[in-house]
Amino acid sequence: MPPSAFVWVTHQVAATRWLKAEVAARAPHLKFAFARPGLTTFKADRADQVGPRVEVPTSFARAWGLSLGRADAADAALALAAPHLRRPLRLHVFERDVDVPVDEQDAAVRGTRAAAVEATLRAAAPADAFHAEPRAVAGDLVLDVVVPHAGEPDEPWLIGLHAHDDHHGPWPGGVGHVPPPPEAPSRAWCKIEEALRWADLEPAPGDVAVELGASPGGASYAMLCRGVTVYGIDPGEMAPACLDFTGPHGNRFVHLHMPAAEVPKAALPRQYQWLLNDVNLAPMVALRYIERFVALAHGGLRGAILTLKLNDDGVFAALPRLRERIAKLGAPRIRYTQLPSHRSEVVAILQW
Ligand SMILES: C[S@@+](CC[C@H](N)C(=O)[O-])C[C@H]1O[C@@H](n2cnc3c(N)ncnc32)[C@H](O)[C@@H]1O
Repeated sequence: MPPSAFVWVTHQVAATRWLKAEVAARAPHLKFAFARPGLTTFKADRADQVGPRVEVPTSFARAWGLSLGRADAADAALALAAPHLRRPLRLHVFERDVDVPVDEQDAAVRGTRAAAVEATLRAAAPADAFHAEPRAVAGDLVLDVVVPHAGEPDEPWLIGLHAHDDHHGPWPGGVGHVPPPPEAPSRAWCKIEEALRWADLEPAPGDVAVELGASPGGASYAMLCRGVTVYGIDPGEMAPACLDFTGPHGNRFVHLHMPAAEVPKAALPRQYQWLLNDVNLAPMVALRYIERFVALAHGGLRGAILTLKLNDDGVFAALPRLRERIAKLGAPRIRYTQLPSHRSEVVAILQW
């Protein structure tokens, strides 16, 4: 079989146009090939420019890899995978996004096609073809099987391959939607939980976080439940789930009930390990605050999860400048993605 020159990316449906524009600008050797909702493929000028370790430079990719081709049944999918089955593969079967916010989809339907296809593949494959667990670890080769959303008609599946490293989310599709517990004050709970899982980050109990734009408190509540003390900055009101929280680790919530620009240095802890941003301001404005609160952490930061509102083409056009400014925050590792729970936004995840 000649080496594949095709790569695939899965992403939110609404971002397709921006994703294609960004790849055209940043990776001119990748030419748009074909797209299905939530899935876009590119053909490299030469096959030796791509492989299972391919990176697709875009802020919108949630998962990506080399395309092996399309298949409409388990036998055909396994035939495409066969040359790579010298050792057990990690199997990631997942559904493409649809253009309906994930919290408005039927939770009893979403995921059922992926589960059925995975069962068929496992039943048809040799016993030792796939690891049993889905979570990828560094060095794994992952067989990606991208299927249509369970609420859509069936279509041929995209069969892909990627070498797992810490650029990729470790779960099928990078990360799936994480549904919120009933008491979560807002859907921002999902955004934080999905970001932590995609980036494989674990806040430690006893850590301290500062959140810009914390009201009503979904993201803060997620961090509180992980044992983190949270300083939430917002002129808006916070939910009792945050205000009344007392954690098993003695961690608690502190409401700095004011706009970010008015927070005095003395109101903050001397060091904090996490910075979250979710203000509903233009990213260029939000970045001014982010820059100040990175400096005020006095070098203690381990991670920052910065949600950037991407409401229109103007903000998309400013993305290269935004990325430059975020690069100057000094984190050695910066990744971008758009999570299942996102709407018109992307997240920059920084690690020190
Ligand atoms: C999308 S909501 C945040 C949701 C929140 N992170 C959660 O977990 O529920 C955006 C918030 O940004 C806040 N905000 C807007 N401008 C702000 C500023 N200058 N300083 C602090 N918060 C601000 C708004 O009051 C609003 O509550």
